[in-house]
Amino acid sequence: MTRLFISLYFASAFLSPLIPVHGVDRGNFKTCQQSSFCRRCRAMEPSNSAYELLLNTLKVETSSVEAEMVNTRNFARFKFQFYALIDGTFRMKISELNPIKPRYEVQDALVGEPLLEKLELLDRTAEKVSIKCGPNSATITAKPFRVDLHDQNSLVISANDRGLMKFEHYRLKTPQSDVEEGGEVEHVPVVVDGDLGDEDGAWEESFKSHHDSKPHGPSAVAMDFSFPASESIYGIPEHADSFSLKSTVDTDPYRLYNLDVFEYELDNPMALYGSIPFVIAHGAASSVGVFWHNAAETWVDIKSKGGEGSSVVGGAAAGVVSSIVNLVSGGSEGGGGQEGSRARSNVDARFMSESGLIDVFFLMGPKPLDVSRQYAKLTGTAAFPPYFAFGYHQSRWNYNDQEDVKNVDESFDEHDIPCDVIWLDIEHTSGKRYFTWDKVKFPNPKEMLDHETAKGRKMVAIVDPHIKRDGGYFLHNDAEANDYYVKNKDGKIYEGWCWPGSSSYLDFFDEKVMDYYSARYLFSNYVGSTEDLHIWNDMNEPSVFNGPEVTMPKDCLHSGGLWEHRDVHNVYALMHVKATMDGLLKRTDGRLRPFILSRGHFAGTQRFAAVWTGDNAAEWGHLRISIPMCLSLSIAGIPMCGADITGFFKFPTAELFIRWYQAGAFQPFYRSHSHIDTKRREPWLMGDEALRLSREALRIRYSLLPFWYGLARQHEVTGAPYMRPLWYHYPTERATFNIDSEYLLGDSLLVHPVTEAGARYVTVHFPGEGKDIWYDYFTFERMPEGATQIPVTIEKIPVYQRGGSIVVKKERIRRASSLTHNDPFTLVVALDAKNEASGMIYLDDGQSYEYRDGKYIELFLNFANDKFTSRVVNVNPQYTTKERLEKVVIVGIAANYTKAEVECQEFGKVLVDCVYDDQTQVLVIRKPWMNMGSPWSLQLLK
Ligand code: NOJ
Repeated sequence: MTRLFISLYFASAFLSPLIPVHGVDRGNFKTCQQSSFCRRCRAMEPSNSAYELLLNTLKVETSSVEAEMVNTRNFARFKFQFYALIDGTFRMKISELNPIKPRYEVQDALVGEPLLEKLELLDRTAEKVSIKCGPNSATITAKPFRVDLHDQNSLVISANDRGLMKFEHYRLKTPQSDVEEGGEVEHVPVVVDGDLGDEDGAWEESFKSHHDSKPHGPSAVAMDFSFPASESIYGIPEHADSFSLKSTVDTDPYRLYNLDVFEYELDNPMALYGSIPFVIAHGAASSVGVFWHNAAETWVDIKSKGGEGSSVVGGAAAGVVSSIVNLVSGGSEGGGGQEGSRARSNVDARFMSESGLIDVFFLMGPKPLDVSRQYAKLTGTAAFPPYFAFGYHQSRWNYNDQEDVKNVDESFDEHDIPCDVIWLDIEHTSGKRYFTWDKVKFPNPKEMLDHETAKGRKMVAIVDPHIKRDGGYFLHNDAEANDYYVKNKDGKIYEGWCWPGSSSYLDFFDEKVMDYYSARYLFSNYVGSTEDLHIWNDMNEPSVFNGPEVTMPKDCLHSGGLWEHRDVHNVYALMHVKATMDGLLKRTDGRLRPFILSRGHFAGTQRFAAVWTGDNAAEWGHLRISIPMCLSLSIAGIPMCGADITGFFKFPTAELFIRWYQAGAFQPFYRSHSHIDTKRREPWLMGDEALRLSREALRIRYSLLPFWYGLARQHEVTGAPYMRPLWYHYPTERATFNIDSEYLLGDSLLVHPVTEAGARYVTVHFPGEGKDIWYDYFTFERMPEGATQIPVTIEKIPVYQRGGSIVVKKERIRRASSLTHNDPFTLVVALDAKNEASGMIYLDDGQSYEYRDGKYIELFLNFANDKFTSRVVNVNPQYTTKERLEKVVIVGIAANYTKAEVECQEFGKVLVDCVYDDQTQVLVIRKPWMNMGSPWSLQLLK
């Protein structure tokens, strides 16, 4: 495979203009059957679990219970720990009692040590122990082992319910004569294992031409979780598949293994660039989350009624049936693999990892936003984006030279199109040596950057983790001299093949490498960089063109041989961006907020980087899949997500080009990017209509930048994603559970991008079951409830504002967002059935961390009883602003008001005119002009 793969990649990189057109070569990537641990785990049948807790060893502490556990088939012993954490979260850890070698515990996915909560012991018998924490409780049954988690109302999660737990303890390959099968085992590794025979692949395995030496033998861990109160299940990005996870009974499990999949296909569970082992199970009654904290290759089997035939409106019937089943059987006894229990849940997820621990967090909700908050408390919220990050990013593999960059920059101005960032791909470097510049094409990077800075723009440059093995490259020399590289199984520096040719890979699992690497970003080391140069970390799965499955062999060694690559693979990219963030912070002494984009990702990546969905194609299906892919990332903690606008491979039609700019305008990370061998496609090269409508979409995006920035603030405080599935705000509305084609931004805008060629209609589901009013965002027309056919022209972007919300805009569009900092606001107040609305505005300098010292203003906006008020929420704000209120648009207002009385500190009371349109029922108040930094009110008068 690899030869074909390399030749395609290299053909495209070096032998332009060959464009590969074949689609994914599935044979390059393992199926579960081709992976011995997946085979072993999946071969288990639901049965009475072999694992038992020894409750005579139980210790109950303030916030935890602990006991020994035994595998009754081979007598291997384990340590079981169960913790009560703050905010309705529990943690369960199972590790070997006396491993012959330490097992890898994930570092850096968590934002810190989770905070403990006091637990209450409810009951303790010889069979089980029950504890309570806040409204939630856990019952831990000893034999067979099972953990049942209840919220206030019912059983919501049951771990090892089907008895599919597996823990392959480390063992010696050669049997030891002094250990008898079934004998008393204390500190000796067990050789005979009831659930591990002479199965092939346990001690070594091959895939294609690659051999995995597996010196430590089998080490898989697995556990099943059932969700009796749930009807659908979501998460475990990254897959190019429906948002609601599909049942894998008849397919491969979903695979989590960070891989560079060339020309990935849609609608399948194959692994992609990132792995977040986190699911949210949802039903009309509650939402819960399970976070499987493990960095090894993981396969996830799903049982769910959801996801089958994801549609605009679907899943309702299945949901009703399952909830009835759940109500009847929800709290029943059984489990640990007993037949009775298996019938009771329609939704379950089974995680199977190649190594590491069983370390699981249970997030008890009960509402979707509670789960997001609980998950953010564990893994952190996203790095607060600088304001420009929400602007438009123009990328291309590659902008050829400084002149090209300048021309692109000027063309944006010439065509009156806003743009914040111009990107440089790998060709800007000197021979793919990162942190350097091609001396001929980019002779004066500082001058280029300063030019962009002067225009209010920024740049992003790529920095990949592979290092060219070249004696003339300082980074390679430093890495060799100081032992910074990942080793192969024999302890020699590992050499693989990537863009520069022969390459080695920095070992980010070594502190000294992290320090060294982050220091490369200092201005003194990265010559030519400035504070307006931000970073793109690509290929960090890591991608190795000639490696097994295009990545690093699993028997490579990290941290001086302490860990195998198998243990840490899925967090390699996380460590890469962690080092980058550290470096970018250090270069300004922690003053400015960096922007980083990463391709590989894991839980916690959000603290350092935004993520995009990799090498998609200029096809309608790829435009469509960008929605479920970004929703999955969003609910798994990564809110700053986007897809390459107009597709990376292939060339879009003008229609697809327009529709993708329109869709991207309403997705968080808005970047056009394309393959080196495709034709150039900046908006002015795509024909008059494409230019006009992409410009229009971009201008709409720019008018909404304050709204996006407010979403970022909300996320920082609450963990709520920017892009949300409809069921986040309409959790009982079953018709929303399977929707892949529309989503909410915050709780205010409903977006249903047009993603079909030649579309004349889209079917939009207006949620709220008639209780919420939805207005067309552009025409202010009031929409009907439920599923509705909406006619669309090529101009139309189906976006709707919820009655009861206030959307914050700036309508003066300039060439870059930094130039709009002092511009005035427009507020669109859409009224609900009670003629009320509320919202927020967040103001700060848009670029520094000074907001953490109180240099920001957060305003609560409220409209009720014909009066619009703005109240400063934060105490003693240290921030002042020049921003004023330019326009208020009140939507859905029945009466004709002619004046408004403005009251604020600066002006006292003044009267301003209102203009009412009784056709649209919209009232416009122009130039009330109060400063946004202090409280004001606006009373409507007839
Ligand atoms: C792979 C990335 O996914 C793509 O966006 C980039 O252009 C190429 N690497 C070259 O750096």
